[in-house]
Amino acid sequence: QILRSVQSAARKSNYTRNYASAASPERKVTILGAAGGIGQSLSMLMKLNPLVSTLSLYDLAGTPGVAADVSHINTRAQVFGYAEDKELGKALEGSDVVIIPAGVPRKPGMTRDDLFNINAGIVKNLCKSVAQYCPNALVNMISNPVNSTVPIASEVFKKAGTYDPKRLFGVTTLDVVRAKTFYATKAGLPVEAVNVPVVGGHAGITILPLFSQAHPQANLSNADIEYLTKRTQDGGTEVVLAKAGKGSATLSMAYAGAIFADACLKGLNGVPDVVECSYVASTVTDLPFFASKVRLGKNGVEEIYGLGTLSEYEQEGLENLKAELKSSIDKGIEFANKE
Ligand code: NAD
Ligand code: LMR
Repeated sequence: QILRSVQSAARKSNYTRNYASAASPERKVTILGAAGGIGQSLSMLMKLNPLVSTLSLYDLAGTPGVAADVSHINTRAQVFGYAEDKELGKALEGSDVVIIPAGVPRKPGMTRDDLFNINAGIVKNLCKSVAQYCPNALVNMISNPVNSTVPIASEVFKKAGTYDPKRLFGVTTLDVVRAKTFYATKAGLPVEAVNVPVVGGHAGITILPLFSQAHPQANLSNADIEYLTKRTQDGGTEVVLAKAGKGSATLSMAYAGAIFADACLKGLNGVPDVVECSYVASTVTDLPFFASKVRLGKNGVEEIYGLGTLSEYEQEGLENLKAELKSSIDKGIEFANKE
């Protein structure tokens, strides 16, 4: 759907620019980590989104180049690049949506949790600034380990007195993107017609695709479902191994991040029935954070959907993921409250 809107924006750029500024409200989107592997492609995709009026790009280095480059694309968004710590406030001020892909990616042999030592501190500091400069923004957390970085963000916001659980999202859209692709390929279905909810978290067995609720339903064997589940859970590792030390998923992640940010913007703009899976503060299970389908609206999360009926295999997967997810959540909360 993002590609369709990208193509249509490119085809009708003048019309879209005029139309969008007249019909859709001003929206500022800020990307923290904008000069990185995800950040650069995501900056381009957000520049192509006609719902964005201001695109603010922040990184520790390299942002002026990315901003200058992206700014030449003839679409609505005005682009600003910020590259120094002292400019972070300016980058964030007035943001409606803040997307955070800042941090280090995995290398072969690492788990996402191995990134905790570096990324937890990065996320904690950036979130302090989010609380200070744009406390009402919807925060889309991409930095890994998402299972812990979202709880870290929540604690930082609580301490600052700005926490609104409806406005904090762990971006798990890439798991859905992968599940759709793998399912459609295995089932011989057109991928655009396919939907698969993915619940739980964003690491290994905590990623739980619900193929029993895939739409349309295909007649797949238990072995097929097990294969698809494992491939979805190991999708990130598949890319890390293929990149052989040069990072993790960037292009598919930028695509997924752009879809999720677009959904947030549509929700803010009052478009009805915008539903995506996301890792949010939740009472769907006994864990304080959990990914499931959420409806997005003017205040962020408007409704969190339950898990529906699970197959025996999925029920088992749900029970098996809880201990790991709980320990990642606890680790994030403990880290955020240190010092
Ligand atoms: P990258 O190294 O290519 O880019 C990261 C960028 O973050 C760099 O440009 C770096 O300068 C910047 N950065 C670091 N500290 C910063 C700070 N304090 N302020 C601003 N910018 C800062 O890495 P990448 O491939 O873009 O991945 C980024 C993160 O996204 C990793 O943690 C990775 O694991 C994660 N990721 C998440 C998903 C997901 O599905 N949620 C998917 C892919 C990657
Ligand atoms: C992914 O799922 O691709 C990301 O979480 C990056 C990774 O480390 O696998």
